[in-house]
Amino acid sequence: MKETWISEAQNAMAHAHVPYSHFPVGACLVTKEGEIYTGCNIENASFGLSNCAERTAFFKAVSEGRKEFQHLVITGNTKEPISPCGACRQVMAEFCEPDMPVTLVSESGKTKEMTVKELIPYTFTDAQL
Ligand code: THU
Repeated sequence: MKETWISEAQNAMAHAHVPYSHFPVGACLVTKEGEIYTGCNIENASFGLSNCAERTAFFKAVSEGRKEFQHLVITGNTKEPISPCGACRQVMAEFCEPDMPVTLVSESGKTKEMTVKELIPYTFTDAQL
């Protein structure tokens, strides 16, 4: 199962629009029902408008009414398993349970298993609003 999700994330990297960084990232977000939403990073000549792969996957899923997730895979052409950016960690915290597993994958396929809570401890959430 997880191998499929890793392949889906790696395949999504092929769609990355990265003319500025040349750093493709892929994501595979899995709903509790087992549906798959993939994402890639999409950059813009106005750099600040660029969207990360993980957030592309979350926004695709949420915009189609999915809000319950069981797993996220993130892939990059990195030596060590890719480390997601802070903005994406905050989006994970919005939509995922703290114990949800996140698999980080390097270019060679080396993996690191983490949870959302490990990636973003002491998170700002709606509990504080
Ligand atoms: N990037 C992601 O897609 N996800 C991350 O978690 C880290 C960074 C993208 C943003 C930009 O397109 C490129 O990687 C270089 O920062």
